[in-house]
Amino acid sequence: MATSTKLFFLQSHFLLLLIVIIISSSIHLSSSSDPTPSPWPHQFHSILIMNYSGANQIIDLWYDWPNGRNFNIIQHQLGKLLYDLEWNNGTSFFYTLDSTEECRVAHLDVGILRPNWLDGANYLGQEHVDGFLCNVWEKANFIWYYEDVVTKRPVHWVFYTGRSAHVMTFEVGAVLEDAKWQAPVYCFEKKDAEKNAKTHPVIADGFETSVRERTLRGLLGY
Ligand SMILES: *[C@@H]1O[C@H](CO)[C@@H](O)[C@H](O)[C@H]1NC(C)=O
Ligand SMILES: *[C@@H]1O[C@H](CO)[C@@H](O)[C@H](O)[C@H]1NC(C)=O
Repeated sequence: MATSTKLFFLQSHFLLLLIVIIISSSIHLSSSSDPTPSPWPHQFHSILIMNYSGANQIIDLWYDWPNGRNFNIIQHQLGKLLYDLEWNNGTSFFYTLDSTEECRVAHLDVGILRPNWLDGANYLGQEHVDGFLCNVWEKANFIWYYEDVVTKRPVHWVFYTGRSAHVMTFEVGAVLEDAKWQAPVYCFEKKDAEKNAKTHPVIADGFETSVRERTLRGLLGY
């Protein structure tokens, strides 16, 4: 009697072990076959529609990895046109090209996004966004990223701040001419405190947001 009970327990333990092995191997199987986000093309131009707490912007994004530079040209709805220029050496210029001649400069330890910056993102499954069936990933609670299942192009992303982008165009290989990457001369002039104090709030906010996002990216390692 005692022996058969022991045997029963042994068998049930064996069964349990088998089940655990099967489940863990199937988990392993499913995670190793999860889709991974496409790396960014080394050069592209994208038009993005942004929504930040209900405020709308159109961004012309010029990503240029070989030249170590990234440009966000930001049109606020019925408002300012701002230029957010990032270099891979960590310098950011944030300026207008109108008569206000505003410019803010930041020197950070962070380069521009690497083409493979989405490596290691967590796959969350599929979702319809903007009418496209997308694979969805999340990375470091920093960004949620939606990529078209068929074309592998980005469709949408949302930052941890709630700032979201809808990708309207995605021109792989498009490059903005060199002359456009020149920050204006007033970015290189010493500014007195008075002029800085007069900085338009939209510039101050945009600059802060940009620096915050870039700093966090640096802390997260991409
Ligand atoms: C923008 O975002 C807000 C929430 O922050 C939302 O209520 C609104 O519908 C969005 N607008 C558009 C055009 O997507
Ligand atoms: C980084 O590169 C830009 C563009 O060449 C330059 O204007 C800036 O001064 C450089 N920053 C540093 C810290 O070297």
